[in-house]
Amino acid sequence: MPAITLTTLQSLKQKGEKITMLTCYDATFAHACNEAGVEVLLVGDSLGMVLQGHDSTLPVTTAEMAYHTACVKRGNSDALILADLPFMANATLEQTMNNSAMLMQAGAHMVKVEGQLWLAESIRLLAERGVPVCAHMGLTPQAVNILGGYKVQGRNENQARQMRADAISLEQAGAAMLLLECVPSELAAEISQAVKIPVIGIGAGNATDGQVLVLHDMLGLSITGRVPKFVKNFMHGQDSIQSALKAYVSEVKATTFPGIEHGFSA
Ligand code: KIV
Repeated sequence: MPAITLTTLQSLKQKGEKITMLTCYDATFAHACNEAGVEVLLVGDSLGMVLQGHDSTLPVTTAEMAYHTACVKRGNSDALILADLPFMANATLEQTMNNSAMLMQAGAHMVKVEGQLWLAESIRLLAERGVPVCAHMGLTPQAVNILGGYKVQGRNENQARQMRADAISLEQAGAAMLLLECVPSELAAEISQAVKIPVIGIGAGNATDGQVLVLHDMLGLSITGRVPKFVKNFMHGQDSIQSALKAYVSEVKATTFPGIEHGFSA
């Protein structure tokens, strides 16, 4: 059991203290993030892009996610480990149960699934079986081919209304956390107010209950040189990775990151 549990995260939301999350894929960075006070380590399927060099997250397999989750577990002492179910790993309810079991047995404390209302049944089944679930909404990179690119979601009133309603339905289905990616800041603020569970944002403004960034992005490392608007390079002004990680934690806690310039409008 990590020092940071779901209960800790719920009480941070209640107290109004921001939750810090970073992606993490190996033992050394898990230890470094622990030292910096990062509360949640996300073993994200972004590893397909930043570690494996693919141009999307689609090629990542559950076996690869389990491997990296086990690496993170070995370096971690007190953060909560959240692991992604990769593309099509939750295509059926049976696959969802089996693949979630693989990630939990590798060391995850919670799994993350991308989607909308259609996730409700699998979230309910997982929660009943002891698996906490984070629902990733807004820009869901596994659906990039449907979305037509990595675009901000929820910009028109119909989409926004649907996203608000889906968030509430997924909480009712048993989701333990929501993650909103590339959503107008005002909509993310409304959703964070509307649900009791913690809402973590990336490109979703600073009124969510916490923030996440891809580790390589916030350390200024990029293969393509294309840096999303919502990213800040925390290596600027720091002389070590450890100081950059600490700067991220203190800026998220102080709500100085993200700034208005990192967010999107409707
Ligand atoms: O896979 C990942 O790193 C993610 C973040 C972008 C939130 O899901």
